[in-house]
Amino acid sequence: MAPFREVRDPGGSGTTAPRSVSTEAGHDRDLSLGAGPHFDLRLSPDPGPAPHSGSRSNDGGRDSGPGQKSAFADLPESSSADTQLIRRTLAEIEPISDKVTSYFYALLFVRHPHLRELFPAAMDAQRDRLFKALLTAARKADEPEVLDEYLTHLGQGHRKYGTLPEHYPAVGESLLGALARYTPGSWSEATEAAWVRAYTVISQVMIDAAAENEQYAPAWWQAEIVSHELRTPDIAVVTVRPDQPYPFLAGQYTSLETPWWPRVWRHYSFASAPRSDGLLSFHVKAVPAGWVSSALVHHATAGDVIRLGSPAGSMVVDHATDSGLLCLGGGTGIAPIKALVEDVAVHGRQRPVEVFYGARSDHDLYDIETMTRLEREHPWLSVRSVISDGPTSGLSGQLPDAVRQYGPWNTYDAYLSGPPGLIRSGVSTLRGIGIPSHRIRHDSLEELVGAAR
Ligand SMILES: Cc1cc2nc3c(=O)[nH]c(=O)nc-3n(C[C@H](O)[C@H](O)[C@H](O)COP(=O)(O)OP(=O)(O)OC[C@H]3O[C@@H](n4cnc5c(N)ncnc54)[C@H](O)[C@@H]3O)c2cc1C
Ligand code: HEM
Repeated sequence: MAPFREVRDPGGSGTTAPRSVSTEAGHDRDLSLGAGPHFDLRLSPDPGPAPHSGSRSNDGGRDSGPGQKSAFADLPESSSADTQLIRRTLAEIEPISDKVTSYFYALLFVRHPHLRELFPAAMDAQRDRLFKALLTAARKADEPEVLDEYLTHLGQGHRKYGTLPEHYPAVGESLLGALARYTPGSWSEATEAAWVRAYTVISQVMIDAAAENEQYAPAWWQAEIVSHELRTPDIAVVTVRPDQPYPFLAGQYTSLETPWWPRVWRHYSFASAPRSDGLLSFHVKAVPAGWVSSALVHHATAGDVIRLGSPAGSMVVDHATDSGLLCLGGGTGIAPIKALVEDVAVHGRQRPVEVFYGARSDHDLYDIETMTRLEREHPWLSVRSVISDGPTSGLSGQLPDAVRQYGPWNTYDAYLSGPPGLIRSGVSTLRGIGIPSHRIRHDSLEELVGAAR
């Protein structure tokens, strides 16, 4: 069978991948897009503009138009039966996901050795991300808008890895091969057909999003380090000059690859609002045995060239309102908060901005001088430091507890940045004191798990 034979290449470059590899189960039906009984699952019959154009709010300001529709909105009734089958597979493999992941990559690289070079040399830490995303997508099948936005961003982000439309069938076949092998009790023709349909739609969204993004953005930017300032023994402020204009919004982050660890990408927040000289700054904390952060803090120097992916993240200021901003920044999480403050200053609308800056000790408040300078310059800004361990002239305790002592915050929009634990406890505290979740913005928690700041 050829389960993923015709994932459409919207770029029209003729790269549609003819594939004919059986899955472990060896069924023999043609489930490709546009053919056979599953014809109705096509996303769009025209190879015209991608249906996902600008459908994200975190792509540097390109918002959805009113007519935008999720690729998943048109799925037929039978898709709920598919969801059931897919969820059954997921429940079965959850306890053994490590084994399934290993087998998935083994299949991928044995059958398609040329794809190995797209991935980092050592894949232990990040290995399960691709696989987990497939599972996440399958899980979110009944939240079409959320899923569409997630996959659009994912597809755009894959351009920097060198992913091409013809690679998708290979990944799909390996996924099905791994699932079939580890769910022998429940894998059936119907289950396989459900996974093929889901994977085909997922791939199409990602492929379309990448093609659409190609029209206005490079796959990556080269950026030369122009200054490197060590603020503490393990925190550096790294400033780079991109080789071409880099559009982003204050509060967003990027993915970054260093020359020392090819194909290893990590996220870092922009530490300033967009600047007239086009330079970008990052605050990087070296984590113990951390590949990219240690390289950036301890090895990088002016003249080194790094690569940047597209901007991402929805922790941006809504300039259509005058609501106050309540900002919680822990550790290097103060970097995007500083960018937000600069953004408010640039827009010239007076609105209260209350910053709570958390660290373990006074010594770890590496950017407090910048923050207090901003506070002196702007009467609408208030900055409070919160120290969790040890003596301080500022506030003592956990950041969310300190925030709770002030307020009321019911007219404020909240912004959180820092380690995943801070985001979780901060969100829970803020919701507890009555800030509705749609007014709380933070870095992607999913991405943050496993990362540190
Ligand atoms: C949206 C987002 C924005 C981010 N912004 C920033 C930023 O502005 N500045 C910044 O410095 N980081 C930021 N991070 C974290 C950053 O992406 C990396 O995760 C971090 O730099 C570690 O990468 P690494 O390659 O050095 O470590 P890895 O090689 O990935 O990790 C090495 C090992 O150390 C463990 N580890 C990680 N952190 C710690 C820790 N604190 N203590 C002990 N062990 C640890 C890991 O689990 C792993 O086992 C951000 C992350 C996200 C998701
Ligand atoms: C539906 C299909 C796919 C999904 C859901 C998916 C998902 C993901 C996710 C979530 C990541 C983690 C990093 C990030 O967010 O960018 C990732 C990384 C990656 N993906 Fe995909 N992916 C898919 C298809 C592909 C294909 C077809 C290729 C090409 C062979 C590919 C190559 C890569 C590479 C090289 C990485 C970086 C790996 C690393 O950093 O360790 N992906 N993918």
